[in-house]
Amino acid sequence: MEIANLSKNFASIPVFEGLDLSISSGEFVCLVGGSGSGKSTLLNIVAGLDHADGGTVLAPPAAVMFQESALLPWLSAAGNISLALKFAGVPRQDRQQRTQELLNLVRLPDAGYRLVHQLSGGMQQRVALARALAQNRSLLLMDEPFSALDSITRDFLHDELEDIWRATGRTIVLVTHNVREAIRLGQRVILLASDQGSIAGEWRVSDTQRHDAVAGAALAETIRTVLHREVHGLAAVS
Ligand SMILES: Nc1ncnc2c1ncn2[C@@H]1O[C@H](COP(=O)(O)OP(=O)(O)O)[C@@H](O)[C@H]1O
Ligand SMILES: [Mg+2]
Repeated sequence: MEIANLSKNFASIPVFEGLDLSISSGEFVCLVGGSGSGKSTLLNIVAGLDHADGGTVLAPPAAVMFQESALLPWLSAAGNISLALKFAGVPRQDRQQRTQELLNLVRLPDAGYRLVHQLSGGMQQRVALARALAQNRSLLLMDEPFSALDSITRDFLHDELEDIWRATGRTIVLVTHNVREAIRLGQRVILLASDQGSIAGEWRVSDTQRHDAVAGAALAETIRTVLHREVHGLAAVS
């Protein structure tokens, strides 16, 4: 995915001015930034849900997942996944088996029959992830997918998402306002500036920093310092 010199305005207020960003195939990148820094706008542009005002965006077709599962409530968990398989062109006779494989992958092997309201928030996000994977696209864009969940459920889903990323080889771009989450998941953390329309910082995350609480905490502190400067710098001028 290659973004070069991206500009984007809303009502002539710039969100991005000359943003450059490249992400390699198979990479797991986390985007952090203050509220209103343009994280969702960037994902939407990459997904083709919004347009850029200038610059170039080269990205393969993406599957997108949001904070709310946006599952269809009149369908079962399996029905939601199967529908995505249908849209992805998977033949009818293969869909049931493929749906079960995806339910297994997100660790819900026995929940296919359940309606959306019979699933916990964490289970709903697992089904939404299975549905996104059903679209069979190499790029997965996730906009605060775990922000509405309790921390224990979130920790489980972090482990599962890492396993799924390794198993499927997808490129993943995940937005979060949680620096710890970004370090837990990302190979690279990118901080969007709050007022200059570009990138304020970028860090590579080592395996030690990802899995060792002490090493991770030190990096988190570094990133939080820049993030706070961004957010408070903005507050100071407005
Ligand atoms: N559809 C829209 N119309 C007008 N302004 C918008 C729209 N979407 C986002 N914005 C503005 O663009 C900026 C970036 O928003 P957003 O990408 O949602 O930020 P984030 O996801 O980082 O919180 C904010 O100032 C927001 O108010
Ligand atoms: Mg957002």
